[in-house]
Amino acid sequence: MLITGPRGTKDILPGMSSSWQYMEKKVRDICRLYGFKEIRTPVFEHTELFLRGIGETTDIVSKEMYTFTDRGERSLTLRPENTAAVVRSYLEHKLYAESLLTKLFYIGPMFRYDRPQAGRYRQFHQFGVEALGSKGPAIDAEVIILAVQLLKDLGLTDLNLYLNSVGCPECRPVYRESLQDYLREKTEKLCTDCQTRFDRNPMRILDCKNPQCTEESQGAPHIVDCLCPECSTHFEQLKSLLTVAGIDFTLNPRLVRGLDYYTKTAFEIQYAALGSQSAVCGGGRYDGLVAECGGQSTPSIGFAIGLERILLTLEKQGLLPEVTNKIDVFVAPIGTEAQGMAFKLLCDLRKQGFTADMDFMDRNIKGQMKQANKYPASFVAIIGDDEVAQGKVMLKNMQSGVQELVDSSAVQMKIQVEMED
Ligand code: HAM
Repeated sequence: MLITGPRGTKDILPGMSSSWQYMEKKVRDICRLYGFKEIRTPVFEHTELFLRGIGETTDIVSKEMYTFTDRGERSLTLRPENTAAVVRSYLEHKLYAESLLTKLFYIGPMFRYDRPQAGRYRQFHQFGVEALGSKGPAIDAEVIILAVQLLKDLGLTDLNLYLNSVGCPECRPVYRESLQDYLREKTEKLCTDCQTRFDRNPMRILDCKNPQCTEESQGAPHIVDCLCPECSTHFEQLKSLLTVAGIDFTLNPRLVRGLDYYTKTAFEIQYAALGSQSAVCGGGRYDGLVAECGGQSTPSIGFAIGLERILLTLEKQGLLPEVTNKIDVFVAPIGTEAQGMAFKLLCDLRKQGFTADMDFMDRNIKGQMKQANKYPASFVAIIGDDEVAQGKVMLKNMQSGVQELVDSSAVQMKIQVEMED
């Protein structure tokens, strides 16, 4: 019996890998423009990091982690997200000593034991950025604009940026209480998950997808009305910076995010046509996380973009790059005598920087021409017994159909000239 890949995972097959390379190139280009440097951390970390960083009551930590004990009896977890790991690395390697503001980005696989569906997988890939060290709203705007700009550069349209502030340890408890006061008499009507959230994490009730919960929390107080002066000023300044930069956004007082580390700014970019998994980007400020992980208090902000969801969006909008296997030259030897000369020509062509291939399956000339057309190849270099005897190559320009006997030493020059025509 064939062994299949684990549920919730996807192979990126050769036909799709060029789309991934295309996205990754756009990511690297924009990070270079904005001065974010790449960081690569391991795919597994000590479980403790995520318990402390993400929060024990979150869905991610309580239900979705791939946690295992290794042979040395250590509890390790495949990273469900990368912010906590970047903070761990930032502290471990004292990156804060190198500059006041540290701007990092990453691309890589994350793992969550979630119920798989379109746009939701157990292994998925994120591109994320983290800016550690600045407390001012300008860095929030910078990070949000980077995300928006990347999506625009990919040609995507119909995306909505939602913005909220989730306050800080000073103002959030006050809001939490007024939210609980509002929901107390409605708890029986909430879904079972939200009934447990009521005590542990009542703000999560606001973004529960269950229609009954949405209805019950409809008239709930908004956190932006309960912000302390510092959080409120920060939020106002961020909004005006985004407006100045010409970035459209929608305020969403129900946007709370699924990780406990957020403070102040929270944002998401959604593409509604993706349905229930419409968030392509999520992020926010996490001013307390570095201290929570044992460092000095370091205000920070970041986001992560789900690359599978970007790919689905590119596909829906007809923006996937065309896949081409086009090569410059296909070398077609006929008979065993020609093999050596053909192989040398193939090696020389590649040394010169031409994309080239040859037959490795002992196909007859008809089969080889078929193969050359399949690529397609711009030129076919045919070498038979006569050509070997004369030290020449029959070079066929596949576009014009013209073929010419060329001195083997002049093949590359001839191709170069014809390609430039
Ligand atoms: P998150 O909202 O959990 O945030 O994930 C960010 C993005 O990853 C989502 O908007 C979505 O596009 C994608 N994503 C999440 N789960 C899945 C899944 N199961 N399958 C496919 N795609 C998924 C974070 O991870 C934070 N670390 C973001 C951040 C960075 N905040 C500050 N810095």
